[in-house]
Amino acid sequence: MGRCTQNFLSPLWLPLFIVSLPAFVGATPTNQTIDDVHGDSVTGAQVQYLPQVPASEGPLWFNQTSCSKCVDVPDARSSFDNTWTSALYLADIGSMSVSVKFSGTALYVFFILPNFSADSGLASSVRCIFFIDGALVGSFAHDSDGSSVFKYDVLAYKNATIMNGDHVLLIETTGADPALIIFDYAVYTYVSILLVDL
Ligand SMILES: *[C@@H]1O[C@H](CO)[C@@H](O)[C@H](O)[C@H]1NC(C)=O
Ligand SMILES: *[C@@H]1O[C@H](CO)[C@@H](O)[C@H](O)[C@H]1NC(C)=O
Ligand SMILES: *[C@@H]1O[C@H](CO)[C@@H](O)[C@H](O)[C@H]1NC(C)=O
Ligand SMILES: *[C@@H]1O[C@H](CO)[C@@H](O)[C@H](O)[C@H]1NC(C)=O
Repeated sequence: MGRCTQNFLSPLWLPLFIVSLPAFVGATPTNQTIDDVHGDSVTGAQVQYLPQVPASEGPLWFNQTSCSKCVDVPDARSSFDNTWTSALYLADIGSMSVSVKFSGTALYVFFILPNFSADSGLASSVRCIFFIDGALVGSFAHDSDGSSVFKYDVLAYKNATIMNGDHVLLIETTGADPALIIFDYAVYTYVSILLVDL
């Protein structure tokens, strides 16, 4: 028994154990973007919009291309990646949502806000709630100031204290009141951890 222990700890064995131990060297945070139409700039993962209403009946969600004949829409040239995706929520829809997968420690969600005037007959308020991995984490609301001027790059949700890993963000609009959502893009902070063998 004594001999066994002595053999195990013999100086000959020590280098082998040291060689196989990985060492933590550093973590580099980098921001990556998720565009409403083009998806994640690194992974290519696409944004999911629900409910999916057939084009013949709507569609519910439309973008700068599918609504080329619409008036009173945001200027694509002022939006991130020249795209935006929008839907008008009405009570009979029940629930509509934007869902985004990301991996990292921070998340920033950017909307375009309409400021339709009250007499325009267009829904002007923006209203939604945010879920991360199914847990309610925030909300956003904006009422039109009647100026009819779109506001771009508006930070609608920010969270810089997310546990590192894979997550799902869900942006939901529900309830009795009409609301307009114009989703432009999201930014998330991905952390690459560098491990090296000594
Ligand atoms: C990521 O972007 C957000 C929002 O623009 C910014 O506040 C943050 O400092 C950026 N983080 C990194 C690591 O660049
Ligand atoms: C915009 O929406 C249409 C119709 O839903 C879709 O076919 C198209 O791929 C979308 N993307 C762009 C870049 O316009
Ligand atoms: C439009 O709405 C935004 C968001 O609240 C607001 O900051 C802005 O002042 C409004 N009007 C104009 C002219 O941009
Ligand atoms: C950020 O996300 C975490 C879940 O990862 C949640 O527990 C926390 O409440 C969120 N914080 C904010 C400010 O939304």
